[in-house]
Amino acid sequence: MRTQVAVIGAGPAGLLLAHLLRRGGVDAVVIETRSQEYVAARIRAGILESSSVELLESAGLGARLRAEGHEHRGIHLQMPGERHHLDFVDLAGRGVWLYGQTEVQKDLVAAGTAEVCYEVTDVALHGLETDRPAVTYVDADGVARRLDADVIAGCDGSFGPSRAAAVPRQAFERVYPYSWLGILADVAPSTDELIYAWHPDGFALHSMRSDTVSRLYLQVPNGTDPADWSDDRIWDELATRLGDGEDGWKLTPGPITDKSVLPMRSHVRTPMRHGRLFLAGDAAHIVPPTGAKGLNLAIADVALLSRALVELLRSGDPRLADSYSDDALRRVWRCTHFSWWMTTMLHASGDPFDAQLQLSQLRWVTTSTAGATGLAENYAGLPLEL
Ligand code: APR
Ligand code: PHB
Repeated sequence: MRTQVAVIGAGPAGLLLAHLLRRGGVDAVVIETRSQEYVAARIRAGILESSSVELLESAGLGARLRAEGHEHRGIHLQMPGERHHLDFVDLAGRGVWLYGQTEVQKDLVAAGTAEVCYEVTDVALHGLETDRPAVTYVDADGVARRLDADVIAGCDGSFGPSRAAAVPRQAFERVYPYSWLGILADVAPSTDELIYAWHPDGFALHSMRSDTVSRLYLQVPNGTDPADWSDDRIWDELATRLGDGEDGWKLTPGPITDKSVLPMRSHVRTPMRHGRLFLAGDAAHIVPPTGAKGLNLAIADVALLSRALVELLRSGDPRLADSYSDDALRRVWRCTHFSWWMTTMLHASGDPFDAQLQLSQLRWVTTSTAGATGLAENYAGLPLEL
């Protein structure tokens, strides 16, 4: 089989890239190891920056998002005894949208633009340093296949083969000494907008998926077994850290439908290209979830990469492809810094000196317009052309 762009991975990065390429007149085939149902059901992030929303809208993917998503003007920042609302629209001129990654994924599948082969195995990349790269794999029926292409797009996340095939000049990593215990619960959110809470026992976050489903997180030690956390223990700890009882605010508990532990790390590999292989999304970088940047960075990468590949493959102009890695990395490092900053400002490290610096920083962010605007600009997202 032959195509112009062989896309590895049908997560949001791979599916959106194939969608944008097709709209730009470039042929793409996506291969994915998991089933369509598995990919669609995976619980992932929920916040879209306004530039992500604009990009999805301009790609014809905005109708359900605008109808069913919720625009949030900002977030609440909580410390013991005090809660502050940061209004991003007032501070930075734009808000964010609550719309789950699973919904973005469904919209991409419903658009039907991308040709996707699900449930493949034995994926291997070949000829990356030639102008005839190829991907070999075994399809869902057990037949060995070869996909010849002009370019391979590695959108296969942090455990896929693209990341391993793209020999990095440099790799940067920070592993944080804590994880998140995340729950989904069938209960109306107890808040209108997200609450990020600093507490001496550890960070907590109140997020949501809809008017009837809440998503909440607790900072826990690395290596935590979710089985050690009963539903009652989770709700008690969330209530304490989120400030239940303060100023009459109540956290309403409800049936927990999912419980999992997420490790936290920052990782960047440069360059985001190796010969004819281009990396996008989690294949190229990982951020801790505190800044809600993972999905937005994947969208920003493929916005740049799709333009670069359309120029390369339709007009023969390699300039955007040649600058792709540098162009994408400017935003990657901005978001890597912001995610690290939010993470280290909000998580308990056990060190009293750290705790005082965190509280001082939080007071500055919640009382100074300059401090609040910095957080708002980064959280609501910088322009795609950063
Ligand atoms: N061959 C084909 N596909 C593969 C392979 C492989 N060998 N290995 C992994 N994959 C698939 C995974 O099954 C997954 O569906 O690649 C896809 C990668 O998708 P994501 O992990 O969702 O990554 P990405 O599309 O970059 O999206 C980034 O997802 O992880 C979150 O926080 C992150 O929200 C961000 C977003
Ligand atoms: C989520 O809703 O899952 C979510 C929201 C904001 C974050 C992280 C996760 O910073």
